[in-house]
Amino acid sequence: MSEETAKLSIGDKEIEFPVMEGTAGHPVIDVRKLGSIGYFTFDPGFMATGSCESEITFIDGAKGILLHRGFSIEELARDADYLEVCYMLLHGDAPSSEEYSEFKDIVTRHTMVHEQINMFFHGFRNDSHPMAMLCGTVGALSSFYHSDLDVSNPEQRVRSAHRLIAKMPTLVAMCYKYNVGHPFVYPRNDLSYAANFLNMMFSVPAEDYYISPAVERAMDRIFTLHADHEQNASTSTVRLAGSSGANPYACIAAGVASLWGPAHGGANEACLKMLEEIGSVDQIPKYIAKAKDKNDPFRLMGFGHRVYKNHDPRATVMRESCHEVLSELKVDNPLLDVAMELERIALSDPYFAEKKLFPNVDFYSGIVLSAIGIPTNMFTCIFALARTVGWISHWHEMMSQPGQKIGRPRQLYTGEAKRAYVPIEK
Ligand code: SDX
Repeated sequence: MSEETAKLSIGDKEIEFPVMEGTAGHPVIDVRKLGSIGYFTFDPGFMATGSCESEITFIDGAKGILLHRGFSIEELARDADYLEVCYMLLHGDAPSSEEYSEFKDIVTRHTMVHEQINMFFHGFRNDSHPMAMLCGTVGALSSFYHSDLDVSNPEQRVRSAHRLIAKMPTLVAMCYKYNVGHPFVYPRNDLSYAANFLNMMFSVPAEDYYISPAVERAMDRIFTLHADHEQNASTSTVRLAGSSGANPYACIAAGVASLWGPAHGGANEACLKMLEEIGSVDQIPKYIAKAKDKNDPFRLMGFGHRVYKNHDPRATVMRESCHEVLSELKVDNPLLDVAMELERIALSDPYFAEKKLFPNVDFYSGIVLSAIGIPTNMFTCIFALARTVGWISHWHEMMSQPGQKIGRPRQLYTGEAKRAYVPIEK
């Protein structure tokens, strides 16, 4: 608690609120007792609202800082792999070598899904959007684990977390295989997390599949860069769903649904579509003008962020990966030329500087995924795969906190005042 307090005077009422300070970042005004004097706060979009206490991730939007359990995203992307990041997000600290190998073994041995899950896919049209299939199959997972759904039991919560981290790559690859009409590929325990995913995505029974180490490294780094991001829309969705006591698979399915929106996780897919629509470097000025035009709903997808107001540290790392993969694969991707020129223009244009619009993580991840050969409609599934550990870690943290309550916001009612109902002639 801070020494500071916040005083509010309304009419003849005066109320003093405690101010709470965290390890870093904005202090918060604890307004929980505001209801007692007959008022609510009003903050659509939660622009200035802290919804919870958390020890998992810290973001400083002004300085472009992102920490997971205190470790910077730049160091984690360079020196750790995704499973190390999963361990620290879920369990609170970086693993020792022994803890890491035990965790890796547990996750590896949970990668298969129940064989009956295959049937769920055959209920979808072949051309279903992969996110529609992922939403359905993740939620359906709960029907296979009846005995392990006591959300008040920490061991069962952690086992659900292990299952979800392990099975998401399998389900995401199955969505892709179902779309392209290839047979599902089983997980392989001899491969790394990223290599196993790539193998389930792209190997076919007819021939061996070669996994480029640069692509494997880029895939693992994409997972790390998307693993968690504080109380973003989909994580807040998972927390709200979990606050009612819903099972973890249902909560993660809710997170998948929320992430699908183009303003959130759907931005990388929307960004590639935007680059394809722009088509060539000479068309960029036209689209920059559209982005500036208040009357034009067009937005530069992959630009801007609610929290980061000068740069997204993940985009900086992602940009390096982007160039590494493209030079390794010798991909001459004309969309990258458009993307680089769009980045150059946007960053030098006073409008975007003034509006704090710069490339976010989705801007570059879309290009890397495209270079790896992942179709655009799979991009958000990859984001959901990576973010599952963040979602389930926040869910586990919330369920572990004493006095956890169901989330139930109020509103400003602007509808009709009470009026008599006149029955209609029937
Ligand atoms: C993710 O929250 C997270 O942490 C999310 C995420 C995560 O890891 O979970 O980081 C992942 O979702 C990244 C963001 C991906 N979304 C996009 O790239 C979609 C394009 N970006 C925008 O829709 C927008 O920037 C948001 C949604 C990201 C942020 O929106 P805000 O904070 O609500 O800001 P806003 O919409 O009120 O925009 C502020 C101003 C507006 O102009 P004014 O009304 O003030 O004149 O900036 C303009 C907007 O018109 N603006 C843009 C723009 N984004 C905002 N103009 C052109 N192109 C854009 N991309």
